[in-house]
Amino acid sequence: MDAEAGVAGPVPRLLAHALHTQVQMHEAYGGVVPELASRDHIRRVLPLAEGVFAEAGRTLADVDVVAFTRGPGLAGALLVGAGVAASLGAALDRPILGVHHLEGHLLSPFLSADPPTFPFVALLVSGGHTQLMRVDGIGRYEMLGETIDDAAGEAFDKSAKLLGLGYPGGPALARLAGEGDPEAFKLPRPLLRSGDLDFSFAGLKTAVLTQTKKLGDELQARKADLAASTQAAIVEVLLKKSLAALEQTGLTRLVVAGGVGANKELRAQLDRACARKGVRVHYPELHLCTDNGAMIAMAAAMRLQSGLEQASRRYAFDVRPRWPLDALPQ
Ligand code: KG4
Ligand code: ZN
Repeated sequence: MDAEAGVAGPVPRLLAHALHTQVQMHEAYGGVVPELASRDHIRRVLPLAEGVFAEAGRTLADVDVVAFTRGPGLAGALLVGAGVAASLGAALDRPILGVHHLEGHLLSPFLSADPPTFPFVALLVSGGHTQLMRVDGIGRYEMLGETIDDAAGEAFDKSAKLLGLGYPGGPALARLAGEGDPEAFKLPRPLLRSGDLDFSFAGLKTAVLTQTKKLGDELQARKADLAASTQAAIVEVLLKKSLAALEQTGLTRLVVAGGVGANKELRAQLDRACARKGVRVHYPELHLCTDNGAMIAMAAAMRLQSGLEQASRRYAFDVRPRWPLDALPQ
């Protein structure tokens, strides 16, 4: 990451990044196995970092600050990142900075060719979170609404599991949905008319389970229709609540981030509805929607640039598996 020092400089620029997905490793178990995840992190992180330096044409000596994900997340995996960052920092005599995972997602559209400007409404939709936020600047995040049970990504993943689509289910369900009829099954749109900006997806999963049982032997033939109907229910709720958040705040910019932000149907519907309302929508590049290191480097660079935070030479293995976003310095 190339970043100018000082407040309100140009948007930092990505020099190179690399990503290793653990999807195949976890596939056999139908979900993330924490111990395997952290052991694999240990094996991958240094070779990946070497590849990034080679691609960027830089060396360790060019590093100003080492950023790492401080939380929230699985403690074991976080400790690997924190340990590597602290060791590199100490060895190079460079300061380190722990970053909030969700702030990484939130700021990831700044890595795109068409970066947003503040203020905006953010729809953060990942495997663990579904939140609508008003974002007025770095660290200035006001929660407008969030899920009271499952996250949107979880709704995709759990429904996909019920349809026998494996792990992670979101992208597989979305692919199959492309071949089905979104109106074939009437599935609930929880909290659609609740008048607030909260979400609830647990009931949808139950409705999908009921349908699969009802279909019995017919399920195989109707799978694509059920996938399409499930996706339609999730997308409609995300769309309507995002539009309500824009209306409530009077803002005309929407940022969509997190793994579910890669969903093509969600993007198409948001694009259409927002174009009608004169709202600009910004997404991260598709390959930067799901978890990646580039967004963590970006959040660190923007935080340092804003002057809100300084990197430190306290080389502790400092992680926060649970860490609310509104606890960040602002
Ligand atoms: O942000 P992310 O990579 O990890 C978390 O921080 O949770 O999000 C992962 C989630 C998973 O639930 C995955 O199924 C979902 O994002 N996802 C998708 C798509 N791609 C990833 N859901 C729907 N459609 C997609 N194309
Ligand atoms: Zn994530």
